[in-house]
Amino acid sequence: MKLVLIGPPGCGKGTQSGLLCKKFGLPHISSGNILRAEVQAGTPFGKKIKKYMDRGEIGPQELITKAVLEHIDKNCPSGFVLDGFPRTLYQAETLHGTHNIVAAIYLNVAEKEILKRITGRRTCSKCGRVFHLDYSPPKKNGICDSCEGELVQRDDDTAETVKNRVQIYKKETMPVLDFYRTLGVLKEINANVAPDVIFQEILNIV
Ligand code: AP5
Repeated sequence: MKLVLIGPPGCGKGTQSGLLCKKFGLPHISSGNILRAEVQAGTPFGKKIKKYMDRGEIGPQELITKAVLEHIDKNCPSGFVLDGFPRTLYQAETLHGTHNIVAAIYLNVAEKEILKRITGRRTCSKCGRVFHLDYSPPKKNGICDSCEGELVQRDDDTAETVKNRVQIYKKETMPVLDFYRTLGVLKEINANVAPDVIFQEILNIV
C-alpha cells in the first residue's frame, strides 16, 4: 500500500500517518522528520536546508526530492505512508515516475484552526511523540507520557512562520491536489474534527 497524506501545516498529517502505520504495519515517511534529522546531525545537507526550514520554505527541492526518494528506495520500496511529500508539482511528478500511489488523502482543515494546532504542538525530544497543549495535553507539564523525555516546540512553529508556511502551501502544494485529482486518486476528508473521527474516515477509504 502506497499512500500520500496531504494538506496544510497542522492538518494532522503526522498524527494520522502514525495511526495508519500502527494499524497496517507500514513505514511512516515524513519528509519534515527526515530533513530535521539532517539539520540536527549537522550534515552538510542539513546546514544547507536549515535556513529554509526555519522560514517554512521549500528550499532546494531537487536535492530534497532525491533525499526522500533514496530514503524510500532504501527502507520501504513496496509500501509506505508519505507525510509532507510531495509538496510541489515537481515532487509529485518525480514520485509518480517510480511509485504508483493508490490514494492521496487530503486533510482539509479551516485556516483559523491551523494556527491553534501549530502553536499548541509540543514534541518529545527523545521519542518524537506529539502532544497538543489543549487538544491532547501530557499528564505532566512539559514531560512525555511515553518516555519522560522533555517536550519541546519546533523552531518553525511560531505564529509568524505559520503564516508563511500557509502561503507557501497555497502556492506550491495546492497544485499537487489537482495533480492527484486528475489521476483519480485524491480523497478529500474534513479534518476539522477529532483525530479518531478522521481516522475512521481514512479507514473507510483504504
Ligand atoms: P513538515 O514537518 O512536513 O511540516 P508541515 O507540512 O507544515 O506539517 P506539520 O508537521 O506542521 O503538521 P501535520 O499536518 O503533520 O500536523 P500534526 O499531526 O503534527 O515540514 C516542515 C518544513 O520542512 C517545511 O516547512 C519545509 O521547510 C521542509 N519540508 C518538509 N517536507 C518538504 C518537502 N517535501 N520539500 C521541501 N521542503 C520540505 O498536528 C499538529 C498539532 O495538532 C499536534 O499538536 C496534534 O496533536 C494536533 N492535532 C492533530 N490532529 C488534530 C485534530 N484532528 N484535532 C485537534 N488537534 C489535532
